[in-house]
Amino acid sequence: MLDIIRNDNGAPCSLEELIEYLNDSVDFSCQHSIRSSADMLGRLYFDRSFLTNYVLHKLKDGLSEFEPMNRYTPPSLMLGHGKDFFIRANLWRATDLYSAHYTGKSHEKTDINVYGLAHDHNFDFLTLNYFGPGYKSKMFTYEYSKVVGAVGENVELHDNGYLQLSEGQMYLYRKNFDVHIQYPPTSDSITINIMSTFIPPRSPNQYVFDIANSQVLDIVGGLGRQRHVFDMAILLQDPECDAVMRRIASKSECAKTRAYLQKKLTRASTEET
Ligand SMILES: [Fe+2]
Repeated sequence: MLDIIRNDNGAPCSLEELIEYLNDSVDFSCQHSIRSSADMLGRLYFDRSFLTNYVLHKLKDGLSEFEPMNRYTPPSLMLGHGKDFFIRANLWRATDLYSAHYTGKSHEKTDINVYGLAHDHNFDFLTLNYFGPGYKSKMFTYEYSKVVGAVGENVELHDNGYLQLSEGQMYLYRKNFDVHIQYPPTSDSITINIMSTFIPPRSPNQYVFDIANSQVLDIVGGLGRQRHVFDMAILLQDPECDAVMRRIASKSECAKTRAYLQKKLTRASTEET
C-alpha cells in the first residue's frame, strides 16, 4: 500500500526556513528522518508565492548564473542545497509525445524523468505536488539485495498500484526499493523535491526495468555510469591513467568496479606483451 503523506499543517514556512531545518534536524542516511521532514516541506506548500518570487528574481537577474549547480537538465530548477541534500522544482509537461522516445522519432533529450520508463533511484527523495494535477505513476517494489546487477536479469517486481498526489500531498520515494513509471499530468504541473545526496559506503546501482518481462533493461548508476570513462582510458593506453585505474581497482568500494577494472587492466597488459 502506498504511503501518501497528507498535508495537514497549514502554517507556511519559507524556503530558507526549510533549508535551515534540513541542515540542522535531518539525517539523510535515515529514511525515517527524511520522511519526518515532510512536515516542513508540507508547510512550504502553503507559501504560494515563494516559487514565483524565486523565478522572478532569476529572470530579473538576467539568468546570468542560472542553475550553476543543477545536475539535472531542464525541466528541473535548483532551489537550494545543504550538506546531504538539494531542493529542486520540477516541471511536468502535459504531453502525449513521451512514447516518441521509443520510436526514435524524437530528438528530445532523455533523462531519468522521461515518461513511460520504469526505473528506481539510488537515493531517497521526498516529493511534494506543489502545483497542478500532478503526474501519475505506476508503482512497483523490488528487493535490491536479490539483484546481482546484469542486463537481462530476472527481477521479482511487486505491483504497488498507482500513485497520484493531490496538490499539497507528498510521497517518499525509497532508494532501490520503489520502481515507478511516470505518465504525463493532464495539465502542466510542478513538484518540489528534497533529494538526498548522502553517499552510502557502497554506491548502489540504479536500474531501468522491462516490466513486461520482469527484467533489468539497463543499469544507470554505479559502474554503469563510469564504465565508458574506464573504457576510454584503457583505449588511450596512458601510463598515468593506468596507474589511477589500478588504484581504483584495488580501493573502490564498488565490487563490480573492482572486478571490471581488474579484468580490463589484466587483459590490456596481456595484449601489450
Ligand atoms: Fe524517477
